[in-house]
Amino acid sequence: MTERAPLGIAVIGTGRMGADHVRRIHDVTSGARVAAVVDVDAERAKAVAARVDGCTAHTDPAAAMAVPGVDAVLIASPGPAHEATLLAAFEHDLPVLCEKPLTPDAASALRVLDAELRLGHRRVQVGFMRRYDPEYAQLKALLATGRLGRPLMVHNRHRNAASPPFFTSSMLISDSVAHEADATRWLLGHEITAVTVLRPTPSASAPDALQDPQFVVFETGGGALSDVEIFVNCGFGYQVQAEVVCERGTARIGDGHALVTNTAGRWGGTIAQDFTERFETAYDRQIQAWVDATRRGEVTGPSTWDGYAAAAVCEAGVRALENGGRVEIELAEKPALYA
Ligand SMILES: NC(=O)c1ccc[n+]([C@@H]2O[C@H](COP(=O)([O-])OP(=O)(O)OC[C@H]3O[C@@H](n4cnc5c(N)ncnc54)[C@H](O)[C@@H]3O)[C@@H](O)[C@H]2O)c1
Repeated sequence: MTERAPLGIAVIGTGRMGADHVRRIHDVTSGARVAAVVDVDAERAKAVAARVDGCTAHTDPAAAMAVPGVDAVLIASPGPAHEATLLAAFEHDLPVLCEKPLTPDAASALRVLDAELRLGHRRVQVGFMRRYDPEYAQLKALLATGRLGRPLMVHNRHRNAASPPFFTSSMLISDSVAHEADATRWLLGHEITAVTVLRPTPSASAPDALQDPQFVVFETGGGALSDVEIFVNCGFGYQVQAEVVCERGTARIGDGHALVTNTAGRWGGTIAQDFTERFETAYDRQIQAWVDATRRGEVTGPSTWDGYAAAAVCEAGVRALENGGRVEIELAEKPALYA
């Protein structure tokens, strides 16, 4: 039996996530190799390429896509750069794993969706990696059995130790709550139809002018509500928790109680300090699933439609944050390609 050649991947954007994905593909993922890397910062691209045998460095995504041996593209540049890179990948008809957000707003996400529809087949998996987290997957599987009855409410908590200096109040929605927008849609199997954002008095630990924390309420097409506490300067660590309240019981994930110690008159454990630690397994499983599906000639996982729907929810959320009140979400009609 001959072994198939590994999938040659061009990684676009070699910052925090991109460099970590290069390491992951090189050290963890089977059946794939990093064939090329791209960054507008040429030195950064060269430094990352130097860690991988045979990997070329570029500053232009289209140039990397034309390199012989590049079979697929992983986009890890900032959100506003995603649309142009996705359209270039479509021109080469290459499969793509695109970090969230698909694009920063609904109109640009729809342009990407229309371009994929013109190709006539799915090409994109969006990096909503919580779907690959073992705890989230367990929660989704439990809900699917119907044992707990119909979900009525989801309570989400999303806390970071500290926000980066460039973080703005709207980024709490567009960068962070974007994950709960997808998780809510995925867990409940319904679209989000309206969003309200409440603004408690900011924490004294939040940088000046940052509205932190925020309390977000999603209404869904199935009638269930999903609330999100987003608090990006909680100081003590990175926590993502979700509790689904159903007609006959509740299910909760994210307590992080894998190891509990008893010593010196106290019991306790540790709290992850950032998302790369908390979701390491999810990132590994996400990339492996994408590579495996791509090598089978399939596209699975969160779709361009999921990326568009999350972008529309976040856009409405930012409006609700800025103007107050409840903002309704009108999605385009869902094309059969994403049924
Ligand atoms: N799934 C998750 O949990 C998660 C976590 C963090 C970030 N992200 C997403 O990953 C993406 C990257 O985030 P990051 O934190 O690594 O950002 P970063 O700023 O650390 O890195 C971005 C890199 O892209 C480069 N770049 C900018 N424009 C480019 C372009 N047009 N073409 C090629 N390279 C370009 C920058 O020079 C930089 O090196 C974003 O979409 C972000 O939302 C996802």
